[in-house]
Amino acid sequence: MMSTNSRRKRCDIPATTMVGFLGGGRMAQAMARGIISSGLLQPAQIWASDPNPPNHKLIQSLGVTTTSKNEEVVKNTQVIIIAVKPNVVKSLLKEVSPFITKDKLIVSIAAGVRISTIEELLPPESRVIRVMPNTPALVQAGASVLASGSAVLKGDNDLVAELLSGIGISEEGSEANLDAVTGVSGSGPAYAFAAIEALSDGGVKMGLPRALSTKLAAQTLLGAAKMVLETGKHPGQLKDEVCSPGGTTIHAMHALEKAGFRAALIDAVEAAAKHSQFLGKLS
Ligand SMILES: NC(=O)c1ccc[n+]([C@@H]2O[C@H](COP(=O)([O-])OP(=O)(O)OC[C@H]3O[C@@H](n4cnc5c(N)ncnc54)[C@H](OP(=O)(O)O)[C@@H]3O)[C@@H](O)[C@H]2O)c1
Repeated sequence: MMSTNSRRKRCDIPATTMVGFLGGGRMAQAMARGIISSGLLQPAQIWASDPNPPNHKLIQSLGVTTTSKNEEVVKNTQVIIIAVKPNVVKSLLKEVSPFITKDKLIVSIAAGVRISTIEELLPPESRVIRVMPNTPALVQAGASVLASGSAVLKGDNDLVAELLSGIGISEEGSEANLDAVTGVSGSGPAYAFAAIEALSDGGVKMGLPRALSTKLAAQTLLGAAKMVLETGKHPGQLKDEVCSPGGTTIHAMHALEKAGFRAALIDAVEAAAKHSQFLGKLS
């Protein structure tokens, strides 16, 4: 059973809670920006380590304390977010493991790195939460799913969900569901980008200027998504409500059905989820 942070009672994060990012790249910057701009934490409550000078400067511009030493972040914070590329996670964990104590909560956003892999590289009973975010987190419109490790404490999930609310919505789920999550929300932005591009092509074919057509297509997907989330209505019902008898939209829907539109999306989710399962077995 999943639960969403949009229905969750806000847990106020104490002003003494310190959050650290190991890796200060795109995701760390997006998360730090979202967490600060939504007032969840003050910049002084955030640390980040990164070896890359341009990223250092970018995250520092948010008021975050930066260092090139991962150890320093771990020692000065309680919630430690692993925000390096997946292939760096193992060496990073080996490096910081000696400084991980029971008062630390480790949150990994690295795609495809399993909780068991992280737990094996840390001291016994380490508190680990794995998060699967998606790219719209970069514009604070992400969809994340979090899965807990074996030693998390009461309140750990709520704290992480609260932090994730700075970059969009989050749901709790089991790690076994994360391959399917990858198929829907992890890879999903690419399907939506392809849909926007194709809708824009349709507009151009029928005489619209490219820029106008792309803007209309993107705003239409955004608006439709907002209607699903905000009305709580079944998407099929919302579709029926815009299909008047003998009208333009039902003619368009018939064209989509003939082209196998819905089956193609189901196939896409299945293909991504199966490939994610395959990659997980290799790691
Ligand atoms: N971007 C997304 O939309 C997205 C979505 C879902 C999940 N994720 C996950 O988020 C994680 C971060 O992705 P990203 O896009 O933010 O990557 P990124 O922009 O490349 O940021 C990673 C940063 O970590 C630095 N780094 C490398 N080795 C390090 C080390 N040993 N200690 C500390 N920092 C180190 C990198 O420096 P160098 O550049 O010098 O190597 C880089 O600045 C990945 O695991 C990815 O799977 C990302």
